[in-house]
Amino acid sequence: MPSWTATRIRTLKGASPIVCVTAYDFSMARIVDEAGFHLVLVGDSLGMTVLGYETTLPVTMEEMLHHTSAVARGVGNALVVADMPFMSYHSSISTALENAGRFIKEAGADAVKVEGGKVRSRTISALTQNGIPVLGHIGLTPQSLLAMGGYKIQGRKPAEAKQLLADAASLDAAGVFAIVLECIPSELAREITAAVSVPTIGIGAGPHCDGQILVLHDVLGLHGAAAPKLKFVKQYAALGKLAKDALLNFKQDVEQGSFPSAEHSFQ
Ligand code: KIV
Repeated sequence: MPSWTATRIRTLKGASPIVCVTAYDFSMARIVDEAGFHLVLVGDSLGMTVLGYETTLPVTMEEMLHHTSAVARGVGNALVVADMPFMSYHSSISTALENAGRFIKEAGADAVKVEGGKVRSRTISALTQNGIPVLGHIGLTPQSLLAMGGYKIQGRKPAEAKQLLADAASLDAAGVFAIVLECIPSELAREITAAVSVPTIGIGAGPHCDGQILVLHDVLGLHGAAAPKLKFVKQYAALGKLAKDALLNFKQDVEQGSFPSAEHSFQ
């Protein structure tokens, strides 16, 4: 059991900011946990960040289970949340229960994340009533990319804002322990945060949420030359450049015969 359980994270609403980030493997998960984050999301963003797909749509249950197990092995204190991939919870409630159960039983996750609002509330109720903590996710939901017609800020029009408020209320009623708000105007995020009983976790949703989450590769500058330019991201390091420079130095040492030296050789 992690020290940051879903119920404990819920109690942080209005008391202390909730800090969350994605991770996809053992070593990074261990670093995130050592840094004292409350929640580690094994996001289906791994489709792009580590598997090289163009979107999250092709990500499979098996890929998510594989990476979730690795992350769970690296984490001791944070809550490990597995992102349910596209079409793993859509066809029926029993499919959703079966797949969410696999994340808990086989991969060691502590909770799952499900995209969507009111339309998913029956599924989410079934999960929470069967003992699986759920993190909701509304606003820009990347698994609905085709239906949304691209990655666009959501909730700018009054009707969209009203729908998002209703979605947040139905997730709250369905028993989620927190709700991710992605790419919505700050004032709408403030309104939703005030309206629901559970914490909101923002990504591109401004400063009024109860917590914040970013994608690990964006925070650490781990993308190569093709780094996406996203207004809501603050990059705290340039590890991609550091890694490339280190590899160029290693390559040069080998080419020039200066590695391995006596220091790195057995006598
Ligand atoms: O997949 C992911 O990384 C996410 C976060 C951006 C919230 O859903």
